[in-house]
Amino acid sequence: MVKVAIFGASGYVAGELIRLLLQHSSVELALIASESHKGKFLHQLHPNLRKIFNYRLEGYDLEKASKCDIAFVSSSYNSSLRLVPALLKRGLKVIDLTPMFRLKDPADYIRYYGFSHPHPDILKKAVYGLPELNRSEIKDAELVSCPGCIATSSILALYPLVKEGIVDSTVIIDSKMGSSGSGSKNSFSSIHSQRANSIRAYKPINHRHTPEIEQELARIKKTKIALSAHAVDIVRGLLATLHCFIEKEVEIKDLWRIYRTYYVNEKFIRIVREERGIYRYPDPKNLIGSNFCDIGFEIDESNRRLVLISALDNLVKGAAGNAVQCMNIMFGFDEAEGLYSSSPFPI
Ligand SMILES: NC(=O)c1ccc[n+]([C@@H]2O[C@H](COP(=O)([O-])OP(=O)(O)OC[C@H]3O[C@@H](n4cnc5c(N)ncnc54)[C@H](OP(=O)(O)O)[C@@H]3O)[C@@H](O)[C@H]2O)c1
Repeated sequence: MVKVAIFGASGYVAGELIRLLLQHSSVELALIASESHKGKFLHQLHPNLRKIFNYRLEGYDLEKASKCDIAFVSSSYNSSLRLVPALLKRGLKVIDLTPMFRLKDPADYIRYYGFSHPHPDILKKAVYGLPELNRSEIKDAELVSCPGCIATSSILALYPLVKEGIVDSTVIIDSKMGSSGSGSKNSFSSIHSQRANSIRAYKPINHRHTPEIEQELARIKKTKIALSAHAVDIVRGLLATLHCFIEKEVEIKDLWRIYRTYYVNEKFIRIVREERGIYRYPDPKNLIGSNFCDIGFEIDESNRRLVLISALDNLVKGAAGNAVQCMNIMFGFDEAEGLYSSSPFPI
């Protein structure tokens, strides 16, 4: 059994990590640590787990963690900057779900996060945890830094088309995000009276996932990303609409062929494009609780535009599920262990 520690236990992402890892056949949840809720029962924070797992939350105990094989860090940014180096030093493998180790260029932390990164040496060795692109590096990584949810949906939709030289070097991304994307800690912008009945442009420019997307696509071809993010009145899920301009002529059948070629063996990517009906394009409603990313496409010939539609559950393929997928790769388990299930339907 692989011994797992989780930091940031009271958060939404940690709750999903625990739920998924309880379904895993080869994992022991050895330490579930909460800074703010030490001593409480797990089900007091995650009521869905009542009678599933009886556990009293512990504090951020590094000595106890050092007896584990791997730690998931799903905490605040400051906690991650403190915990990740300490856990690596103790010889654990680490999967960080915060953005603190995603970017290779320390200057991006100044530009997008407003601080000078204290561990540029660790940034160099962190592996960007997107299994569909970086599987072999994840396998041998000491530190995996999981992508942001908008980045995951966007990169997975774009990667085959950028690789095949189909799209122009500028891509416009319009994303719509549910309220769980901003975590469980209250802020004025996330209270019900502000979120309900609203579609709010919360980050029309300078979104923090921009440099991640550019960084990963630059490994194939330099691509400029213009990302605008909107908060919509759903709890879970995200839908990204990507507007790409055509570099190389394609027909719908070519797009089918390309996506099939790249993703035929990917368990968690589904191509969703039907001729008619309400399910013809991806919809996050059909992904809640699952680790799938659904990708659809259309060609707008009159504008030489490709429209890509990518959806996922921000807490699963956008965070916890993707992290478990990375752990499976790191320990040589079946990549889908603990993860291969659909969302309930209808929901
Ligand atoms: N929500 C998403 O869709 C999503 C997707 C991808 C990545 N992420 C990233 O995953 C991490 C966790 O996200 P989340 O949605 O689970 O957030 P969350 O619900 O707000 O939880 C964050 C947890 O961090 C811990 N924490 C420690 N010090 C804190 C502080 N000073 N302020 C706030 N929290 C503090 C808390 O856990 P304890 O007190 O229990 O330790 C808290 O529950 C974040 O870094 C986020 O950027 C989130």
